[in-house]
Amino acid sequence: RRKHKVAVIGSGNWGTTVAKLVAESTSENSDVFEKDVQMWVYEEKVTVDGETRNLTEVINTKHQNTKYLQGINLPTNLVANPSLVDTVKDATILIFNLPHEFIGNICRQLKGNILPYSRGISCIKGVTVTDDKIELICEFIGEQLEIYCGALSGANIASEIANENWCETTIAYNTPPCDRHVANGNGHANGNGAYEEHRDSRGQIIKTKLTPVPQDYPPLDHDVLHTLFSRPYFTVSMVSDVVGVSLGGALKNIVAIACGFVEGHGWNMTAKTAVMRRGMLEIIQFAREFYPETIEPATLWEESAGWGDMIVSCTAARNWRYSKMAVERGVSIQEIERTELNGQKLQGISTSREVSSFLRARGVEDKYPLFKLVDGILDGKVNVNDIPSLFRKN
Ligand code: NAD
Ligand code: 13P
Repeated sequence: RRKHKVAVIGSGNWGTTVAKLVAESTSENSDVFEKDVQMWVYEEKVTVDGETRNLTEVINTKHQNTKYLQGINLPTNLVANPSLVDTVKDATILIFNLPHEFIGNICRQLKGNILPYSRGISCIKGVTVTDDKIELICEFIGEQLEIYCGALSGANIASEIANENWCETTIAYNTPPCDRHVANGNGHANGNGAYEEHRDSRGQIIKTKLTPVPQDYPPLDHDVLHTLFSRPYFTVSMVSDVVGVSLGGALKNIVAIACGFVEGHGWNMTAKTAVMRRGMLEIIQFAREFYPETIEPATLWEESAGWGDMIVSCTAARNWRYSKMAVERGVSIQEIERTELNGQKLQGISTSREVSSFLRARGVEDKYPLFKLVDGILDGKVNVNDIPSLFRKN
C-alpha cells in the first residue's frame, strides 16, 4: 500500500507551526504517511550569528525558523524547500498556509504541477474577492487546481501551539463522493479523472473534474486528516461546514481590528465585548445572506472556528494587538505592520477592504455597520468615537 505524502505551502508564523505538528504526526504514523514533510519557503536572506544565509538553509541545518518562529525546535523530518514545484512533487495532501493575498499567485504556479488526485486543507484566514464575487479560500484553491480542498480554522495562536500549549481547532472537510466510493471499494482504481456532480459552498450543483484518490492509498477521509493534525496539545474537531469554518476565520479579523481600535482608544473589556457581540451578528448575517443554502450557524456558536476564534482574536492575537498599538501611537495600522511585524502580515486590513468593496458593489454595506465602520476608520474617514452610535437604539 502506498502512503500519503504531505506538503506544506507557506512557512510564516502559523505555516511553520502547522508544519511542525504534522511532521510530528507523520513520524508517529508511518503506516499511513511518508515520514518526511516538505515545506515551501518563500526564500529570503536572514542574519544568524552575524552571518547572512538563506532561510531554507537555516531551517534545514539549525532546525529552527529563526525569522518567523524564533526559539522553536522543528522536527528533523521537516524539510524546507525554496522550490514550490519540487515541494508538492508526489504529495497527496497539500496544506496551504500563507497570508491570503498570495494564494492566487501560488495557485497559478501549482497548476499542472500537482498530483491530480491530491487533496488540500487551507489554514488561511481570508476570502478572495474579485469584482462583486466573493469566494472562500478553500473553494478558490479547489477551483483553480481542480482538486477538493477543506479548511482548518480555530482559536489558534501560533506561538502558543508551537510551544505545545494545549488548544483546539476545527477542520471542515466534505470527503468527495468519488473518494467515498474508493473507500467502499467501488472507485476508479486507476485514478483517471471523472467529471463529478456535487454541491459547491452555496449549495449549487456543479460539475467538477475530480480525480479519485487511487485505492492503493489509505482512504483520504476524516480519520486520516484527524490523525495527521491531532497532537496531544492540539485537539481537532472534524465537521463538514466549510462555510462556517471559513467565514468565521476570515471575518473575525475585521472585528479584532475594531477591538484593537476600541482598546487603543482607552475603553476596555466591556466595550470590546459589545463589539465582539455585534461582530458575530454581522458574521452570521453575512453567512446567511451570501450562503443561505449551506450555512450552519451552529458552527459559529459551537466550534473553535466560531466564538472561540472571535474571543482569542479580540484579546490576544496580532490584528487586535497591533491595531491597538496603532491608535496608541497615533499612526496607521499599515505603518505598524511595516515597522513592528518583521515580515508577518495582518489579514484584517485587506479582509476589511475586500469585504467592504464586495458589500458596496452589492449596495448592502449599510446592513453591516461594524464592517463599514472599520473600513471607514482604516480610510481615516470616521473615528473610534463613532462606534457607540452603531448600538444606539431610537
Ligand atoms: P505570517 O503572518 O507569518 O506571514 C509571513 C509569511 O508570508 C512568510 O512565510 C513570508 O515568507 C510569506 N510571504 C511574504 N511575501 C510573500 C510572497 N510574495 N509570496 C508568498 N509568501 C510570501 O503568516 P502566518 O502567520 O503563517 O499566516 C498564514 C495564515 O494563517 C494567515 O491567513 C493567518 O491569518 C492564518 N493564521 C495565523 C495564525 C497565527 O497565530 N500566526 C493563527 C491561525 C491562523
Ligand atoms: P492574528 O493573525 O490576528 O494573530 O490571528 C491569529 C488567529 O487567527 C487566532 O485564532
